[in-house]
This record gives sequence, structure tokens and C-alpha cells, in this order.
Amino acid sequence: MSLDHGLLLFQSPLLSFEAFLWAILLVGIVSLWLSPGGHAWARYRSKASVAIPGPFGSPVLGLLTVFTGATPHRALAKLAETVKAVKLMAFSVGFTRFIVSSDPETARDILNNSAFADRPVKESAYELLFHRAMGFAPYGEYWRNLRRISATHLFSPKRIADFEGFRRETGTKMVEEVKCLMEAKGEVFIRRLLHFGSLNNVMTTVFGKKYDFEKPGEGLELEELVSEGYELLGIFNWSDHFPLLRWLDLQGVRKRCRNLVSKVNVFVGKIIEEHRVNRVNGGFNDGDAKVGDFVDVLLDLEKHEKLSDSDMIAVLWEMIFRGTDTVAILLEWILARMVLHPEIQAKAQDEIDGVVGSSKLVSDSDIQNLPYVRAIVKETLRVHPPGPLLSWARLAIHEVHIGDNFIPAGTTAMVNMWAITHSEKVWAEPEKFKPERFMEEDVSIMGPDLRLAPFGSGRRVCPGKAMGLATVHLWLAQLLQAFKWVPCEDKDVDLLEHLKLSMEMKKPLVCKAMPRSA
Ligand code: HEM
Repeated sequence: MSLDHGLLLFQSPLLSFEAFLWAILLVGIVSLWLSPGGHAWARYRSKASVAIPGPFGSPVLGLLTVFTGATPHRALAKLAETVKAVKLMAFSVGFTRFIVSSDPETARDILNNSAFADRPVKESAYELLFHRAMGFAPYGEYWRNLRRISATHLFSPKRIADFEGFRRETGTKMVEEVKCLMEAKGEVFIRRLLHFGSLNNVMTTVFGKKYDFEKPGEGLELEELVSEGYELLGIFNWSDHFPLLRWLDLQGVRKRCRNLVSKVNVFVGKIIEEHRVNRVNGGFNDGDAKVGDFVDVLLDLEKHEKLSDSDMIAVLWEMIFRGTDTVAILLEWILARMVLHPEIQAKAQDEIDGVVGSSKLVSDSDIQNLPYVRAIVKETLRVHPPGPLLSWARLAIHEVHIGDNFIPAGTTAMVNMWAITHSEKVWAEPEKFKPERFMEEDVSIMGPDLRLAPFGSGRRVCPGKAMGLATVHLWLAQLLQAFKWVPCEDKDVDLLEHLKLSMEMKKPLVCKAMPRSA
């Protein structure tokens, strides 16, 4: 193009006006994008006296790629250090405004603040009807009612004790299965075993049913439903952050959720119906569990507390998702650590032999006398928390201040527990696996101490924490009492992580379990 021709184009009134509009748009986009925390924070810039520091991310997408990666907790921890926003960092993902804290004090201010007692409901959780279950129900009467009912009838110390027999039986069955696998294959792929043990544990306490997952039938059908649910809840769904895409359902999440819900309604509906029939006939259930289960409890509620059948299905179904994988995944990490640290494993086995002896099998009542075994569980929760970002975020119900920082209503708030438990400012030698640290200092992991709160804290703290810990402690003690866990000659233990719904080992643990004579 000649110079004259180029000048003529620029002088054309139409084109110069068009160019002007484009320039305005470009400046607008760039200035939105250059807001601390990215474009989703732009319209609140004038309201905040101090802007929360945070990366711009990519235009429109924000920090989207952080969440499509395998370890968002690590990426966010690194970013918070880089932009000097450990206490509180702002960022955008599509049109969603986020804050994340990697500091114990600020984390407490968020988790214990009633302003953050709601949860953002992803499309998949909504479609799977989880907004009617405890974990995603909005903060209010319905949610409070569910927490109260489950605290009294499912998670109370008495209920946990009532189910000890079944927990022990499941642990013993796992020990038998490990023996069979060693005889047949000379190595153990432990994930499958732990998953099915944990699924049966939840199914018994909640539904009063247990399954055989090796044979075709209801067990395998249940497993298919659960796997599909885990996948759907774990998918990064673009519609959650780009509302305009919602009606397109580009990833097919909505369609798959609706398909799954109709199958779950039939599956769980049938179990509820069986309970109704058994009650008319004077029994609790089909006789698998000897104590009344959670379905019985929900059916027994007083008139004013009664749940509709569809709400009951949502509440019961959610328990499977919360209670199964967290326990199984934590145990897989613990066993991986046992293989990697034979001296720690031997110390735990000496403790078990000393307290329980060789002729008796370990039981719940022994756990209080096994402080080192409990310290191993705590140290694994510190180094490999199943919910490094505390699994499910919180949502600001109304405008609120955290310190001097203004947080608009509707902001999604997260705590990076992984960053806290790996911070040199909080823990000495954070990368070192050292259960002894908990023998020297008794740190509560139940929520009040935000240096290590793997079950969250505040109003929405995990209600299943005592039940989850009772299961992990007992099964770990049983597995350590029965076997010495050692590496396979040809397979390394790889500690790479993959955060799906919970943080899994990227490469499942495969190792050997040598029977102990003690
Ligand atoms: C090692 C085991 C477990 C871990 C690490 C764990 C972790 C968590 C975390 C981090 C939260 C979010 C807390 C917050 O927002 O402050 C949570 C919530 C929840 N957990 Fe657990 N959990 C475990 C076991 C269980 C079990 C066994 C159950 C039930 C069978 C359960 C049921 C729930 C429910 C219903 C919620 C939602 C509570 C609400 O929003 O009111 N969890 N869990």
C-alpha cells in the first residue's frame, strides 16, 4: 500500500470513527483486565479503599488455566508468593470473582465469618440436586435442620461407636483381600480395595446396605453411578464462569447430570421403599446392619422436620460423595508414606505390638493408646490434605470486610490449606514427613487451629470428621498390624498429585504387603 493510499484510508470519516470506537473498546478491555485481580474485580475498584493484590490473568479467561491443571493449590500458592498476596489474593476466572487466603489468621477470619457461610453451587452440583443436601444447601433453616439431624443421628460419638463392629469387619476383609492379591499377583494395587471398603462403610452407616463389588449386580451398578457422579462434580465446567455459555451445555455436563439423577432416583428410591416396607413388617432393614441406619432416622423425623422423598435422596446420596473417597484417598497416601519411610512404619508397628499384642486384633478402643499411629495420620493430612483448597469453596452472602479489604457479595472465597501446611513460616521443615512433630506438640486438627484444618473450620466445618478419622485410624492400625508394606522392585512410589474432587495420587500406589508374624 502506498503512503498516499494509507493516509486516504485514515482520513476517511467512517473509518476514523470506526477506529476510534475500536480504540475505546481496546482501552476499556485493557483497563478492565489491568485491575488487580483481573477483570471480574474491575467494577469494585472504586468501592475499595485498598485493592486486594492479585494477578491480572489472561484477558476474559482470567486464571482459568490454573484450574484446568492438575495442581491448582500449588499454582495459587506460588502466585500468592509472587504477587505478595499470601494473606489475601484476588483473581478472576471468567466472570467469577475469587479471593484466596494462604495465611492461618486470614483463613480463620474467612471460615469463621457468618458472611461466608454459603457455598457457590456449581452447575453439576445443582443439577445433581445437591443444593437440597447439606454441603451445598444455602445457609438457613433447611441447612441448620440437616446439620442438627445428622450431628445427632449419624455423626454422634454413640453412632460412630455403634458402627465399630462393621468398620472392623470391613478392615478384616481388606486384610484378607490384600493376602489374596499377594498370593495371586505378588503385589497390591490398593486403591480399588480401599475405595470399595470405604464405599461399603458409608453404604452401611447411611443406607444399611453392603455390596459385593466383584459380582455383577447392584454393587457394580452403584459403582457406575458413583464414578459418574465423581467425574461430573470434578469436571471444570466453563458454564460456571461464563454464564452466556450455560444454555449451550458445550461439555454435556447438564445432560449427563440429568441422566444420572434419574438413575440415582430409581436406585436410592428403591432403598427408601425397602426401608418403608421393612418398618411396616416390624424390622429395621434387610438385616445387613444391626443398628438403624440414616434412612431410618430420616423416615422417623417428626412431622414438622420431615423431608420430601427427593430431598431425602439428595441428602443420602451426597453422603456417599463426601464420605467415600476422602477416607480411601487419605489411606492410600498414608500407605505410600509407610512404604517410603520404613523406619516410621516400624515405629508404628512396635507401638501396635506393645499396646495390642500379637494374639488380639486391634479395635477402636486401642486407638487412644496409639499416639504415634494418630500422629502419622495427622502428618499425612498436613503433607497431603485430601482437600488442599478445602474441597468446597465458600460464598460471600453480603458485602463484608476482611481486615481492610472490601469483599463484594457473591465473591467466591477459598482457603489454600496446602499452602499453609507447606509454609516455612508456619511449620518447621514443612517438606519433611515427620510424625514426631505431633508427639512434641498436640495440634488439634478439628478446626480451631488454622495451621492444620484439613476438615475446614467454622459453621460449615466437615460434620463427618470424627467418623472419617475413626475409620482411617482403625483401618490403618489393622493394615499395619497385619503387614509390612514394602516397595515393588520395578515400581517406584510416585508422590505426584492430581486434584480432582479430592487430591489423589496421580500414579496409584502399587506395592507389596508382607505378612507379619507379630
Ligand atoms: C478424611 C476424611 C474427610 C476429609 C479430609 C473431609 C474434608 C472436608 C472439608 C475440607 C469440608 C469443607 C469444610 C469447610 O467448608 O469448612 C467438608 C465438608 C463436608 N464433609 Fe467432609 N471430609 C472427610 C470425611 C467426611 C465424611 C466421612 C463425611 C460423611 C459421611 C463427610 C461429610 C461432609 C459434609 C456433609 C460436608 C459439608 C458440610 C456443610 O457444608 O455444612 N466428610 N469435608
